[in-house]
Amino acid sequence: MDEQANYDVEQIAVSSVVAALSYGLDLTEGQPMGHSERTCVIGMRLGQELGLDEEELGHLYYALLMKDAGCSSNASRMFQIMGSDDIAAKRDVKTTDWTKLNRDSIEYALSHIKPHAPFIERVQAFVEMASNQKRNAGELVKIRCERGASIARRMGLSEETAEAIHGLDELWNGEGHPHGFRGEDIPRLSRIMSLAQTAEVFYRARGGYAQGGTAALEVARARSGHWFDPQMVLAFESIARRGELWREVEQASTLVATLEPGEKVWKATDETLEAICLAFADVIDAKSPFTHRHSTGVAGAAQAIARSLGLPEDQVVLLRRAALLHDIGKLSVSNSILDKPGKLDEGEWRIVREHPRYSFEILRRIPGFSSIAELAASHHEKLDGSGYWRGLDASQLSTTARILVVADVYDALAARRPYRDALPKEQVLAIMARETPRAIDAQCFYALSGAYQQAESLAENLANLANGVGTSQDEVSRTKDVRYINEARTPERELLPTAAVRQRRRTATRLAEGCSR
Ligand SMILES: [Fe+2]
Ligand SMILES: [Fe+2]
Repeated sequence: MDEQANYDVEQIAVSSVVAALSYGLDLTEGQPMGHSERTCVIGMRLGQELGLDEEELGHLYYALLMKDAGCSSNASRMFQIMGSDDIAAKRDVKTTDWTKLNRDSIEYALSHIKPHAPFIERVQAFVEMASNQKRNAGELVKIRCERGASIARRMGLSEETAEAIHGLDELWNGEGHPHGFRGEDIPRLSRIMSLAQTAEVFYRARGGYAQGGTAALEVARARSGHWFDPQMVLAFESIARRGELWREVEQASTLVATLEPGEKVWKATDETLEAICLAFADVIDAKSPFTHRHSTGVAGAAQAIARSLGLPEDQVVLLRRAALLHDIGKLSVSNSILDKPGKLDEGEWRIVREHPRYSFEILRRIPGFSSIAELAASHHEKLDGSGYWRGLDASQLSTTARILVVADVYDALAARRPYRDALPKEQVLAIMARETPRAIDAQCFYALSGAYQQAESLAENLANLANGVGTSQDEVSRTKDVRYINEARTPERELLPTAAVRQRRRTATRLAEGCSR
């Protein structure tokens, strides 16, 4: 049975979409899922304590949820610089005062700079890192904060929200990045966010409800006047002492929706949902240079196949949104795996195979997105049950799910990978033909064969919208029109593979190696 759009767009609160997708950002930052929501609770209570008006609180609310929107864009560079697991490095830097040369910062460096390299190589890397620490940190933060602000703008969030995200890594004493702003030159919202996120990290990492509150207070006091605005630390102490704050943090996943200021909740429209999906497609694709434009490529291919098969418009929209978000779970995978030039070992494969599960966990949190979550989670399944993450078979895969599988394989094979160059289209189709109909659906594959130029054109348009290339906000809101371009169908039979090419293959090795990461 095919998935139906089971949501009424106008009943969806934008905050619920953004809050759910923030779980993907938490994964890339090495934080337990819900970190951004919990930070939002702390930051909003701090903002209220500081007397922010309703409008400022509105800007702060979305800035807190989207503070890590740029986090995927520096992950690959971080892996290059450190030579280690970027997610673990990002996780541990949050509890390290990297601005000081002390036991903690040295331990951090020893744990995360080329930990598996020979001793001499590690020493060289350590010395190099120490001498370039400021430049490297500046580069990584610049990438992250500029991209984060740009994504917020593309989602239709306010300029104040984008600026707050841009200033997240500035420090009160001027030693932060990207500008080295000092004191009150740092946007007030950024100062609130900086303190709130550190408090959340220490609260969670040092025991949570039992004793994490004490740790959060200690780090706030210790870094007052150094990292944090001293007045804000006093306000934080005041709310933290009341005890209610930590009970609220424990209920963040339900409470966060009620914290959006204003009398009216910001309800979604087709245009806002489209802009959010496109912006997150860009977040997902920015994780690795090898997935550049992958999500929009899959969406373009899926849409072309769906049109060729004559699917109704609501299913085409559902499929496109699932395609744009299908790999959000990949934000959980380290670049030491995604960008690895050689073959993955069994442990690494185990991690890769989990990413559709994370996509499911994240997307099902959005009210009415259960069909999109189900579809997205099935993008590595195969008709013969050899896929992952659940090993579904033909009897469990709907037409829309089969389309997404074919679109994902097609785009992955056509792209450059760490272990091979991009394959020419003829070779991509020949490889896919060999897996048809054992692993992938014949009807969907033939539809793609006939429509791949159309798929590429659609993907190019979507990618330009996702990346904001040559687009203004008005153009983003016209995204809907992209659905209707290139409607003409190519005769399907002209490109049918020969009987020999369609012959079943016993193993899926080539397909699996070529497109599963
Ligand atoms: Fe995937
Ligand atoms: Fe994918």
